[in-house]
Amino acid sequence: MGLSNEYRRQFAWRDWDRVLDALPPLPGQTVLDLGCGVGDLAASLAARGAKVIGFDLDEELLREARSRQLADVEFRSADLRALPDLERKADGLWCSFTAAYFPELSTALAAWAEQLGPSAWIALTEIDDLFAHEPLSARTAALLRAYADDALRAGRYEFRMGRKLTEHLARVGFTVTEAFAMKDDELDCLERADHRSLARVHCCIATRDGSLAAERPHALRKWARDAVSAGGSPLRVLAGHGALGGLAGFPARLARGRQRLFRRACRRRLSPLRRRAAAHDEDHGARASGPAAHHRVRRLRPATLNDPSAK
Ligand SMILES: C[S@@+](CC[C@H](N)C(=O)[O-])C[C@H]1O[C@@H](n2cnc3c(N)ncnc32)[C@H](O)[C@@H]1O
Repeated sequence: MGLSNEYRRQFAWRDWDRVLDALPPLPGQTVLDLGCGVGDLAASLAARGAKVIGFDLDEELLREARSRQLADVEFRSADLRALPDLERKADGLWCSFTAAYFPELSTALAAWAEQLGPSAWIALTEIDDLFAHEPLSARTAALLRAYADDALRAGRYEFRMGRKLTEHLARVGFTVTEAFAMKDDELDCLERADHRSLARVHCCIATRDGSLAAERPHALRKWARDAVSAGGSPLRVLAGHGALGGLAGFPARLARGRQRLFRRACRRRLSPLRRRAAAHDEDHGARASGPAAHHRVRRLRPATLNDPSAK
């Protein structure tokens, strides 16, 4: 099976929607897809509204990618060790299953980040410990370890890159706003039912200031709009969607210095919702400034979001 076919087959194994759903809203954004291969992820990003510039150095893969004639996607030939200057700064950087080719990832990331605007995001997806497997004889485990160590020493590949993504991002001044494992069914596709892979696919989404991933206010606004058009109170609907529970866990993952920024961002984002809730209550004859409304807003005030016991 050629490399193009192999990559396309792998694309189908992976739960890409989980990662794509976690990105900020893409319409109007310019996104760089570094190590784009046959362009499957460039196609997915473009399908969600981004203008994508895919870079790769493998001409065969680029030929295959270009033959798809994807709207809003351009494929360029470049070595990521010396990414050429772009005409304008990009809004996002996508890099899937390519970071491991750069054992000194932070050096590469620092250069790539020069092509990004100040509020741009980076989404990295990489496998960790590809060979981790149970059961494994001590001899086979030692051989695999030696192979991975040799690749790292030679600067070819870092088989344990998945676990290091956050650290590399931090070194270049990016703070992870979401980190999770992506489901990859290929890892479970072992010939023997009593064998299992311990490899994991790590995903990290980061911004320079560690601010709320832009998709959150986007989702809040959408829920609030839906609530108002359905004749309900946006705050009640938000609570019903568990949106505030999701936010409550978020600050705990932030460095302490960032928590203040997070609370301030929450206050900014919740106040239009409070105003709309009050307007809604007034429209429906409720006492917007009365104890019930006050209690509801108090329950949702950002300070409580930082308290895991506040549900
Ligand atoms: C495993 S594939 C990942 C393809 C695609 N991003 C995906 O998630 O399916 C890694 C890609 O990185 C590209 N790549 C590796 N080193 C590179 C370099 N120095 N410059 C440009 N592309 C590189 C390879 O050619 C290949 O297409």
